Amino acid sequence: MSNSIFTDTLKGVKRERPPVWFMRQAGRVLPSYLKLREQYSFRHLMLNPELAAEVTLLPVNELGVDAAILFSDILVIPEALGMSLKFTDKGPIFDTPLQDAPNQLASLQPDSSKLEHVYKALDIIKQQKPDDMALIGFCGAPFTTFCYMVEGNSANHNFSKAIKLFYNNPEISVKILEIITDLSIVYATTQTKHGIDAFQLFETHAGLIPSEMYIERIMPHVNRITNAVRSNNVPVIFFPKGLGTGLAHINYDVADFVGIDWQYSLNEARALCDIKVGVQGNLDPRILAIDDKKILEKELEKYKAFGQQNLNWIFNTGHGLSPDNKVENIKFVVDWVKNTDWGR
Ligand code: CP3
Repeated sequence: MSNSIFTDTLKGVKRERPPVWFMRQAGRVLPSYLKLREQYSFRHLMLNPELAAEVTLLPVNELGVDAAILFSDILVIPEALGMSLKFTDKGPIFDTPLQDAPNQLASLQPDSSKLEHVYKALDIIKQQKPDDMALIGFCGAPFTTFCYMVEGNSANHNFSKAIKLFYNNPEISVKILEIITDLSIVYATTQTKHGIDAFQLFETHAGLIPSEMYIERIMPHVNRITNAVRSNNVPVIFFPKGLGTGLAHINYDVADFVGIDWQYSLNEARALCDIKVGVQGNLDPRILAIDDKKILEKELEKYKAFGQQNLNWIFNTGHGLSPDNKVENIKFVVDWVKNTDWGR
């Protein structure tokens, strides 16, 4: 047993309760983050290693979660490939998306020096973090990153231009996916050398294509990244949002844990995935906006039996926190997970 309940659970060591953290816990909801945002842009917070470290640690101190996730963004990879973008109120917007991909491929040139600020932030976090708190590194999975690079923004939730290219031109699509994957491997393995305790791969848009197609055309790229990270002895959590019944293909060769979205039943997801793979999730984050804690508590009670029976489970939301979530509700969830008798 170590002093981190998160790391122990990831490694299969029996602990008295599930660990708890939230996707997007660092930005978006905490008043202390919003205060920093009055002074600095999101980009400035992300690019400045001291500030990125400070934001990373805010939820640990203010919410009491068991793990911190690096404060950065999945779109640092397209930027390091030479694609400039702005983070606006309406989400990220690329200056020149890959809408004429065959003629733009040559312009995608990796420049690893553009990722140095992330490694510096990790070093600072390692120095400052409490002993019992795990540090999670991350990057976007290849398909989600591809969707943003081709579409250029997140205004159209169908990502129609990206999906059209994916269907219309498989050869170019695979080349783009390979370019993303190659740089993601360098990025992810360098994060492991800077001391992350776990790595999460965010495939937020897995549900945009049929799950069999996802398994056939995307999983080989995913596997390259997860294998590289795991060969450096860092456990991997893979979050394929919307993969549905495709979860049946997620076995221990792919990842140590799999993140389950809120659309899916945790029990059914558990039954679908290889038993050796742990699960993470899957409270609907929108319930964190409600006024009545009794409704929230009732929803949480549903997890009790699951947590008694399943030791390889990390409590999380089924997607990221959003700005309308109430901090007091999030704290309520953390305390509930910590104070419940899990009968283990
Ligand atoms: O807890 C954290 O916030 C950790 C850091 C983190 C961010 N983005 C910071 C961020 C992480 C892990 C991400 C991942 C990310 N970024 C994903 C995958 C996971 C998911 O939530 O679906 C995606 C698709 C992106 C791309 C992206 N970045 C979008 C679509 C947006 C705008 C909408 C939104 O989600 O807020 C961003 C901006 C962004 N990334 C913000 C933060 C804190 C908001 C910036 C602000 O303060 O205005």
